[in-house]
Amino acid sequence: MFNYTNYDESKVEFAEIAPASELPSGERLFVDLGDQPIVIFNIAGQLFAIGDVCTHDDGPLGDGVIEGFNVVCPRHGAEFDIRTGQAVQMPAVVDIPAYPVQVRDGIIFVGVPK
Ligand code: FES
Repeated sequence: MFNYTNYDESKVEFAEIAPASELPSGERLFVDLGDQPIVIFNIAGQLFAIGDVCTHDDGPLGDGVIEGFNVVCPRHGAEFDIRTGQAVQMPAVVDIPAYPVQVRDGIIFVGVPK
């Protein structure tokens, strides 16, 4: 699974998403990159991007409650660490992708595999 904590710069392409002003602290932003739905969270000024599909039963994750750095799937309660995509709570056992996020000149960019 793609995880921004150990990605190879040469294999990542950064896509322009939106002005950072559109994602204030505590908010989330939904985008599609290619055929991949992604949700970007602003947690106290830090941005995190994950795939918006739960690996338990393909439910959307982006509307889930945030507990610390975990997002709780609204369907059956699985939890994922939004920093790494790691599945940390049953019933999900497979990680979700986590993407690198950068802010350059006030614009949010998300890195996806080339
Ligand atoms: S679809 Fe997410 S926990 Fe079941």
